[in-house]
Amino acid sequence: MNLIVAADANWGIGRDNKLLASIPTDMKYFREHTLGKVVVMGRRTLESMPGSKALPKRINYVLSSNPDFEAEGCRVVHGEYELFDELSQFDPDDVYLIGGGSLYNRFYKYCDKLYVTKIDAVLDADTFITNFDEDEDFEVISESEPVTENGLTFRFVVYKKKKEGIDRSKTLRF
Ligand SMILES: NC(=O)c1ccc[n+]([C@@H]2O[C@H](COP(=O)([O-])OP(=O)(O)OC[C@H]3O[C@@H](n4cnc5c(N)ncnc54)[C@H](OP(=O)(O)O)[C@@H]3O)[C@@H](O)[C@H]2O)c1
Repeated sequence: MNLIVAADANWGIGRDNKLLASIPTDMKYFREHTLGKVVVMGRRTLESMPGSKALPKRINYVLSSNPDFEAEGCRVVHGEYELFDELSQFDPDDVYLIGGGSLYNRFYKYCDKLYVTKIDAVLDADTFITNFDEDEDFEVISESEPVTENGLTFRFVVYKKKKEGIDRSKTLRF
């Protein structure tokens, strides 16, 4: 499984159930990675999307503890066991964890690659994720040149899980 996120300099990712910034180049990067793939999100992230709609041309999984929750175009799962059971039918490289904070923090350890758009600013977030630079199980394998758009400078950074010397409980592919 992969993870894709845009985070500010404090690893903030959202406020009032919205993204912190609109960055068209980052949206393009997100689309390029996820089109035709499987995306996994929390119920709040689905509701943060325009019209609370599933992302087109992708298989959308939404996690909610509410047994009555339904969302058009989405496959709703109600717990981690059910989620991983469902995801086991796909190639892990084709699965992207797309938010929000609760899912990133709970599941990033199970991801092989973390695609992080690092925004070089502090943006008044109310939702934060783990600082991946401080997790010794991951290393940076690529980092783009800085790009500036809409007054924000950002870089595309890719982390990969180290294969050796890590806790075996964290090596599950999902
Ligand atoms: N910067 C980015 O790249 C990015 C990407 C995505 C989202 N975001 C931001 O992240 C924020 C939302 O994050 P969030 O943490 O508040 O919400 P979230 O992770 O999107 O969704 C949380 C919800 O998911 C369900 N859930 C989570 N873990 C579960 C589990 N183990 N079993 C069953 N259900 C579970 C629960 O739904 P129920 O309450 O229905 O049980 C929970 O309330 C927003 O500001 C959004 O804009 C940012």
